[in-house]
Amino acid sequence: MDLFSQIEEPEREELKALRKELEDANYKYYVLNMPTLSDREFDEKMHRLQALEAQFPDMFDPKSPTQHVGSDLGKKGFEQVRHKYPMLSLANSYSREEIEDWVRKLPAGVEIVCELKFDGLSISLWYEHGQLVRALTRGDGQQGDDVIANIKTIPSIPWRIERTDIPESFELRGEVLLPWKRFEALNKEREEQEEPLFANPRNAASGTLKLQDPKEVARRGLTAYLYYMLGDNLPGKTHYERLQTAREWGFHISDAIKVCKNVDEVMAYIAYWDTERKNLPVATDGIVLKVNNLAQQEELGYTAKTPRWAIAYKFPAEKQLTLLKEITYQVGRTGVVTPVANLEPVQLSGTMVQRATLHNEDFIRSLDIRPGDRVWVEKGGEIIPKITGRAERENSDPCATLALPLRYSFPTLCPECGTPLVRVEGEAAWRCPNEAGCPPQIKGKIEHFVSRKAMNIDGLGEETIDLLYRQGLLHNIADIYDLKAEDIAAQERLGEKSAQNMLAGIEASKQVPWARVLFALGIRMVGETTAKKIARAYTSVDTLQWATAEQLCAVEDVGPLIAENIVRYFEDIRNLEILDRLRQAGLQMALSEEELSTFDSRLSTKLQGQSIVISGTFSRHSRDEYKAMIEANGGKNVGSVSKKTSFILAGENMGPEKRKKAETLGVKMMSEEEFLEMIK
Ligand code: IVH
Repeated sequence: MDLFSQIEEPEREELKALRKELEDANYKYYVLNMPTLSDREFDEKMHRLQALEAQFPDMFDPKSPTQHVGSDLGKKGFEQVRHKYPMLSLANSYSREEIEDWVRKLPAGVEIVCELKFDGLSISLWYEHGQLVRALTRGDGQQGDDVIANIKTIPSIPWRIERTDIPESFELRGEVLLPWKRFEALNKEREEQEEPLFANPRNAASGTLKLQDPKEVARRGLTAYLYYMLGDNLPGKTHYERLQTAREWGFHISDAIKVCKNVDEVMAYIAYWDTERKNLPVATDGIVLKVNNLAQQEELGYTAKTPRWAIAYKFPAEKQLTLLKEITYQVGRTGVVTPVANLEPVQLSGTMVQRATLHNEDFIRSLDIRPGDRVWVEKGGEIIPKITGRAERENSDPCATLALPLRYSFPTLCPECGTPLVRVEGEAAWRCPNEAGCPPQIKGKIEHFVSRKAMNIDGLGEETIDLLYRQGLLHNIADIYDLKAEDIAAQERLGEKSAQNMLAGIEASKQVPWARVLFALGIRMVGETTAKKIARAYTSVDTLQWATAEQLCAVEDVGPLIAENIVRYFEDIRNLEILDRLRQAGLQMALSEEELSTFDSRLSTKLQGQSIVISGTFSRHSRDEYKAMIEANGGKNVGSVSKKTSFILAGENMGPEKRKKAETLGVKMMSEEEFLEMIK
C-alpha cells in the first residue's frame, strides 16, 4: 500500500461506515417508523458521504444511500406496483446562503415557484378516465405499495373527477399528513393504552397509511396536499399553471404557492413562512423552490436521485440548550420507572418546558448525562419533550467535574414504594414489581379502568381517585363497585351530587361489553384492539382464564409476549379474586347473547381451508372488505400467488406479474361478481 492510500485509509473507512449507518437509518425511518437520527443529523451525514464519494470516485457504488431514496417497502398486505415515473427526492440545504447561490446560478430571468415543504409522506395518485385507480407510496422510488383503500378514506382526495376536459390519464403527487390536533389526540390515546407513541406526525401518518384496516385509517383523520402533476398531454406550460388547473379539477392545493421573480422575493417568502408556518394545522419542515417553466425544467434535468430544477430549504429543528438540575423518577401504571429531567425552564416552540423524558438508563449512560450538565431539549412533534443530547462540558477544572456525580446509576429501589426494581432481559426499562402495593401503579390501574375507552365511568377523575385512595376506600378496581353514597358524600370537595353522578356512572359501566372490560383490566400490552380480538376468540373470562400461551398466540395480533402477560395475569390469585368480585358486581364477563348471535351468523365455512389472493381494484367493495369476507367465511387471504393458491379474486388492472404467474400455474381467477355470488 502506498503512502497516499495509507493516509486516505481512515476516510475510506468512514465512507463505508457512513453508507452502512445511513442505510440502517433509512430502514428504521421508512419501514419501522422509528427514526434513530434527527433529520438534521441524517442530512449532515448524507452530505459528508456525498463529499467523500466525490473524493474517491473509485468507490462509486450504485447501491449507496446517496444513489437511491430510502425505501418504505417491506410491509405485508399491499400490492407493489412500479411507478410510471420514478419518485425522486429533493436536494436540500439548511443554509440560506446556499439557497441564494442556487437561485443565482439559474439562467437569468427564470421564474421560481416557492411552496411549503409538507412533512408527511409522499403519495402518487393515478387517475384514469377521471377515476382514481391507484395510490402508491414512494416505496424505493422505483416501485411503491398500493394503499388505495386507505387513501380513499381521505376526504380531500377525490375518487372521481367528473369533467370532460381532462386527459385520459394523469398522475398527481402530494403529501399525506396527519394534522397536529389529530396527532396529539392519537398519541394521547396511545399513551392511555400504553402503546408506543409516534415520534412525530410524519411517523404517525406513515404508520396509519400502512394499516390493514381502512376504518381505523378513516378514524385517525389524515389529510393531503398535492403539489405535482405529471402525464402526457397535460394543459399548461408552467408548474404553477398546472397546479391551478389541478385546483380547478377539485384537488387540494395549498394556497401558500408563490411565483417569485428574483432571489429577494424567494428569501422574503422563506422569512415569512419561517414564523408563519407555526400557525398551520399540519407539519412543514421547509420550503421547496421549483423552476416554474416546464421546458426549462426539462433542460436542467435530473441526477440519479433528485431533479436539478428544484431544491428544498429546511428549517432548523426547534431545540434548546438548558441546565439539567436534577433527575427524578416517575412510576407508571405498569410499574415502568422513567427517568425525568428537571430543567431550568426554556421556551420551546411557544411553550415553557421544564421537564423532559430521559427515556431509560441506557440512554443516560450512552450520553453520559449527569445533573449539572447542559442538555439539548427538543419538542419535535411529541407531546412530551425529550432530551436529545448533551453539550460538551466546558469547564476543564478537574474539581468542577468532580462536583458532578462520578458515574450515573439508576436507582435500585422503587422511588414510590421502596421495592427493589427489576429489569427484564432484553428490555430497556426498570420496573417496580409491587403491582398491588405501589401507589402510582394502584391509582394508574384504576384511572385506566375508568377511562373513556375502557369502562367510561364519569365522575371518577384522577383527583377523586387519589382522594379515595388516600382515604382507604379504593385499593383496586373491584373496590369501585363497593363504594357507598355516604362514603363519597362524606369527603370534603365531594358532595351529594358528586356521589350521585359517580354512582350512576358506576352503575352504567355494568353494561360495558366484555371486550372493553377485558381492555379495562389493564393486562400489560393488551390494548383496545387486541382486547377486541381476544374477546372474540375467548368469549368469556372463564374460557380465557384457562387458555395456554400457545393457544393465545393463535389469536390475530397476539404474540408470545402478550400471551405470556395474559397467562401471568390469570396465575395471580389476587387478580382472580378481583375478577370474582367484578363478576358478582354484575359486570359483563362474557360476550352477550346478542353479540354471540351476530358474530356467529357472519361465520360460514364456505371458504374453509382455501388460500385466496386479492389483486387489482374493485368497484363493489374495497379490498379490505373482501379480505374481511374471506376471513369471515373461513378462508385465508394470502399475498402472493403460488401452487397452493385456491383462486385469485381478480379486479381491474390486476398486476401483470401476478397475472402471468397465475396463468403459468393454472390458478383460477374469479371476478368480484362471481365471488359475491359464491359466498352469498
Ligand atoms: S416536489 C421531483 N413539493 O419532500 C420533486 N415535494 O425531500 C418532487 N415534499 O419526496 C417533490 N412538500 O415527499 C415537492 N411542495 C412540495 C413538497 C414536497 C413536501 C416532500 C416529498 C418529497 C420530499 C423530498
